[in-house]
Amino acid sequence: MERKRPRLWLLTCLVLFGFCPGSLDAVNPSENEIGHPQQRQQDHPNPKLPASEMPLEVDILKLIKVSHKDPGVSVVEGPIGKYPAYKFRLPYGNVPMINASTVIEAINKSNGFTVVFLFRQQKNNLGTLISINSPGRLTPWFQLTSNSKTGILSLKYRLRNSTKLNQKDWELPRHHRKSPMAAWTWMALTMDFQEDLIRLDLDCSPSKFESVLSRKGAPPKLAISNDALVYFRQEPGRKKKFLGSMQVAKILPYVTHERLWNCYEISSNLAPEYRKPITDN
Ligand SMILES: *[C@@H]1O[C@H](CO)[C@@H](O)[C@H](O)[C@H]1NC(C)=O
Ligand SMILES: *[C@@H]1O[C@H](CO)[C@@H](O)[C@H](O)[C@H]1NC(C)=O
Ligand SMILES: *[C@@H]1O[C@H](CO)[C@@H](O)[C@H](O)[C@H]1NC(C)=O
Repeated sequence: MERKRPRLWLLTCLVLFGFCPGSLDAVNPSENEIGHPQQRQQDHPNPKLPASEMPLEVDILKLIKVSHKDPGVSVVEGPIGKYPAYKFRLPYGNVPMINASTVIEAINKSNGFTVVFLFRQQKNNLGTLISINSPGRLTPWFQLTSNSKTGILSLKYRLRNSTKLNQKDWELPRHHRKSPMAAWTWMALTMDFQEDLIRLDLDCSPSKFESVLSRKGAPPKLAISNDALVYFRQEPGRKKKFLGSMQVAKILPYVTHERLWNCYEISSNLAPEYRKPITDN
């Protein structure tokens, strides 16, 4: 399927990076696998885009000013060299997000938006990556939850003009029959209201598409109330805390049509030498 690429995105690729992910540039096969040893040894010619500042990005890890000084947080090595990654354990939680309104503004775009995470999750953890709720309400306006016990990624969202809570579930990759999300995984979810598409990209697996609309005629835009609050890696009441490590947590207030990381080959069936090494949590 050929889609229009936003001018902004093309411009960014060309001007800032001199290439576009998914273009025909020859890419080292080790690109396929984040955390590949070769990648750490050398300075990578193609920096992973979300490690750089992307146009208009909202960087959640910056907004919460996460630091190794926070109880329960340690700095760990992530797939992107020379770029901090954080491991979250209990008792970390309930950290106020300064300027959370920038998150709401980013996902309140009528064309759509993109949410990007690079993370690795503990075993048996029902972890909310991001949740947008009105005060005192458990039912979210928008929420993304990763469950490493069941291996399911769940998206919940509400559309304007409808009271229905929509839910989409996807299976998360399992590595070497270990717990899902035991290895670092790139994830990008794009809600494209103009094309009526939700696109989910996980590492170098083929993109998965869903329709946004729950029924015909509903205006394709997210419903978010003006009193909404942003919860990062937990739900209201400090429930469903995400435990594990994160290197990227960003929201882009526009639709992306390309994967934001490099893949030598889009495949659900990689040769063993290109599979991810497993790191114990
Ligand atoms: C909040 O965001 C606004 C607009 O992006 C910015 O001007 C302001 O400095 C931010 N405040 C803090 C405390 O980061
Ligand atoms: C949605 O809202 C519009 C007005 O904004 C109204 O005309 C329409 O009937 C509503 N649709 C539904 C399904 O409620
Ligand atoms: C979302 O954007 C609309 C304009 O499209 C605005 O009227 C509304 O107040 C915004 N909602 C929030 C929660 O900022």
